[in-house]
Amino acid sequence: ARVEFLDYDVLTDRGWSLTDDDLFEKAAESGLDGDAYGEVFVEPRTNLLKAAEDAGHSWPFACRGGACANCAVAVVDGEVKMPSNHILSEEMLDQGVRLSCISLPVTDDLQVVYNIEHLPGLDELRL
Ligand code: FES
Repeated sequence: ARVEFLDYDVLTDRGWSLTDDDLFEKAAESGLDGDAYGEVFVEPRTNLLKAAEDAGHSWPFACRGGACANCAVAVVDGEVKMPSNHILSEEMLDQGVRLSCISLPVTDDLQVVYNIEHLPGLDELRL
């Protein structure tokens, strides 16, 4: 799967929102550095966090086991599956929040905002 990613810090800096329709178009045109915006390819049975790391990126994480939310991302387009979820609320799931350390792509193309651990509601879930 092809994953287009964007750092949440960029949204904060520029006043963009996760719900902006043209979020990734704006990012693509902004000359951001390759850690803040880019794409990675995810092999079958590989989680998003691992794929990002294999491509040389350092995304936040702690437990690697779906228990802390440090690795949370917002899936803006496309779909992933998580084998389990013990910590994210229904509301967060509805907003597209997923745990990158246990998320496997379902669709061929994804748009993902990483580094969202300071999003309201997630802060208190972190270890
Ligand atoms: Fe802890 Fe993913 S690193 S839930």
